[in-house]
Amino acid sequence: MTELIWEGKYLDAKKSAPVRIALPFQAVETVNESAQERQRTLDLLTAGQDPEWRNRLIWGDKKYVLPSLLPEFGGRVDLIYIDPPFDTGADFSYPVVIPEHEAEEETGLFVKEPSILEQKAYRDTWGRGLDSYLQWFFETVVLLRELLVEDGSIFVHLDWHAGHYAKLILDEVFGIENFRNQIAWYYYNRFAADGQNFGRKYDMIFWYSKGSKVHYRPIDEARDEPQRRLLRKKVEGVAVNVKDEDNKLVYYDQTTRRVDDVWRIPLVPPASGEFLSYPTQKPQALLERVITACSNENDLVLDCFVGSGTAAVAAELSNRRWIACDLSRFAVHTTRKRLLGIPTVRPFMVQNLGKYERQAWQAAEFAAPDDIRQRESRYREFLLDLYHATPISGHAWLHGVKRGRMVHVGPVDAPITLADVKALAAEVWRSVGQGEKAPKTAAVDVLGWEFAFELHELARQIAAEAKVEVSFKKIPREVLDKRAVEQGDIRFFELAALTMDMKVRKRDAVLTIKDFVLPSEDLPEEVRRAIRHWSQCIDYWAVDWDYKVDTFHNQWQTYRTRKNQTLGTTAEHTYEKAGHYTILVKAIDILGNDTTKAIDIEVS
Ligand SMILES: C[S@@+](CC[C@H](N)C(=O)[O-])C[C@H]1O[C@@H](n2cnc3c(N)ncnc32)[C@H](O)[C@@H]1O
Repeated sequence: MTELIWEGKYLDAKKSAPVRIALPFQAVETVNESAQERQRTLDLLTAGQDPEWRNRLIWGDKKYVLPSLLPEFGGRVDLIYIDPPFDTGADFSYPVVIPEHEAEEETGLFVKEPSILEQKAYRDTWGRGLDSYLQWFFETVVLLRELLVEDGSIFVHLDWHAGHYAKLILDEVFGIENFRNQIAWYYYNRFAADGQNFGRKYDMIFWYSKGSKVHYRPIDEARDEPQRRLLRKKVEGVAVNVKDEDNKLVYYDQTTRRVDDVWRIPLVPPASGEFLSYPTQKPQALLERVITACSNENDLVLDCFVGSGTAAVAAELSNRRWIACDLSRFAVHTTRKRLLGIPTVRPFMVQNLGKYERQAWQAAEFAAPDDIRQRESRYREFLLDLYHATPISGHAWLHGVKRGRMVHVGPVDAPITLADVKALAAEVWRSVGQGEKAPKTAAVDVLGWEFAFELHELARQIAAEAKVEVSFKKIPREVLDKRAVEQGDIRFFELAALTMDMKVRKRDAVLTIKDFVLPSEDLPEEVRRAIRHWSQCIDYWAVDWDYKVDTFHNQWQTYRTRKNQTLGTTAEHTYEKAGHYTILVKAIDILGNDTTKAIDIEVS
């Protein structure tokens, strides 16, 4: 068979294989689950049984997510649709709206440039041009094929950039005999004024089945104009024209037609309620067609490049189960909001690979199999170096110094807790002014991957009581990427801070956001200037009224939409029973980052 060869396809005469580390997923949030459903899940788990199915929205790189799905879903996904990035960095830059900005300001909209993580994914795909794209694509579809059931289908959405190369790769992975259609999605409403060539107005969608059997249900669509047709019937297996009693041919008006492989579906126009300002958003009608034709109710649909969430929304509305993944935080947030906009949305989970991905990274990067302490000390040195701090020794909690401040490096697999901060503060005081490298002031930067929720309050308390100034810095996920590190642009951002006011009267609780501080380094200068009030930085906030130190259960939420840009800052809840409760609040800022805050209350 003819084979497409690209640089990097073969290593030592063997095809380069995809990464196959399977990591466990972490549920970071459940959305729209009622108290009863939550209790049922807990009961099932306690009884050692599998909890009910929950649709999944996963934040992560498909490179880790797909192999991690294999143990549970290998051979169990009924339908896959992918719309992989195939263009330049445009796939990772998003227009971000500053809500409620004043009309005379120009900066109501700004473009969020790709994060280092997204740039890395871009380099992974396009770093060495088409060769690396093809290798990346090949590795993706190899794993996707393994996830499909025997009569499952995959739809791969591409365009003129890489579509023809991808077709050959798909032939190789799925077998040319399993190629079903090349669908031309013709978006006739696009203005395409290309000077040197005909306007490009269609994308190609390749449909492959995994095996020889496939689920396919023909679809009819309405015609623009009814067509006059001869009425025919079968007589002894032969189609013949029907005639009336005067022996005249009989006609009828045909108002529908069978959908073929040219799909005339308009691009989502900006005036439509579906439009999201997400540059690569595809129409829901396109996904509905794929899902209706090639799956049944309750089947499992997967999209590992879900972007603005079109596939998840179409699957949700068609009563299919779904798994949706995207590398971009912003995409995951857009998808979550879009799903919440469906009045009948079933409960779903938001997941990531969290600490497991970091543990795998630490073990691979700082390997010292016999000596955990050595591995951890190498890990800390690495982070101190990235933070431009000097390592110090002889302390239990303090690992470095930077510009007169102490530095603590948090563990790879546990959050920074209240106890850590207390121990740290005590050690800071013991070491101030002790030795040549020791800092002169009682100030400490705490670098962590995750933080316990009450830290901001605590930091303030500690600062006031012990006169230690504590600053919390988030270790960015980009640290896991060698090439991003080599590029040398790793930034540690200050944690955003949320201030809440809580009023409780008997069983009624009223929660109000009083302040939100987004670390200023996160926002471009002109955006910072355009923001008049802290609330403009919040896009969404949600509350778990009875947090049980497991997963954030989103029981109430409010968010901005294109139509309604305002955001309420108060939430109310009535408890059924008296007692002690922990409330967890999650705010998501206009860049898609989340900040959490825990509040303890007594209800009488
Ligand atoms: C063309 S867009 C998909 C648009 C989507 N079909 C829609 O209707 O909105 C491609 C998406 O792939 C995501 N992406 C790119 N590389 C990725 C990777 N390695 N893993 C997961 N998602 C990735 C991007 O963040 C982007 O949202």
